[in-house]
Amino acid sequence: MNDIRGIVFDLYGTLYDVHSVATQCDSFYPKLGRDVSVLWRQKQLEYTWLRSLMGQYVDFEKATEDSLVYTCRHLGLELDEARRAALCEAYLTLSPFPEVPAALRELRARGLPLAILSNGSIRSIDSVVRRSGLLDEFAHLISVDDVRIFKPSDRVYELAERKLDLHRSAILFVSSNAWDVTGAAYFGYPTCWVNRGSGTFEEMGQRPAHTVTGIDGLARKLSAAHEI
Ligand code: 2OP
Repeated sequence: MNDIRGIVFDLYGTLYDVHSVATQCDSFYPKLGRDVSVLWRQKQLEYTWLRSLMGQYVDFEKATEDSLVYTCRHLGLELDEARRAALCEAYLTLSPFPEVPAALRELRARGLPLAILSNGSIRSIDSVVRRSGLLDEFAHLISVDDVRIFKPSDRVYELAERKLDLHRSAILFVSSNAWDVTGAAYFGYPTCWVNRGSGTFEEMGQRPAHTVTGIDGLARKLSAAHEI
């Protein structure tokens, strides 16, 4: 990690817990909150990949809303206008994972610019980060809106290189999503996979350069090695 000059994070599932919406889901659909949020997230990802393959772009908020409608229809749950609005709003106020605020401060104290590169629209990213009070930790919030295609398109990964004005080899790309790490590694970033559970990495010809169980693990890795 000697050559790392900047760190770029994925947002959903990496810094922020997408399943923090489960509480709100549970209030509408008792005992089904987690089932709703898991299928919702899975469909949301599929819809981004499918749209990209079709050469179509809708913003992340639309993909999120469409996948919620699918999820409720699939599970036979009623989704009126008020619930739809409340659940989509919940996606704009996701909670960071508990270790994230302190770990980001520690990383930033090392003088490295931190950025987010996300499938989210700039409005979504800004809302999630601002409302969690972490806006000041980031030098850049980068959205796929700029290129109108979703990860893992190389056009998205390229955005971070341009915004940070650093060569890809100097940017550590950090994600909990193994498919996202795979895309970023294929693009040429040194990668760090945040494996919060006992996830299985993708079999697509790439491997993460580093694996940690939380963002604090990344901060510790950098400190321990005195590499930067
Ligand atoms: C992201 O934040 C969807 O987790 C993915 O880009």
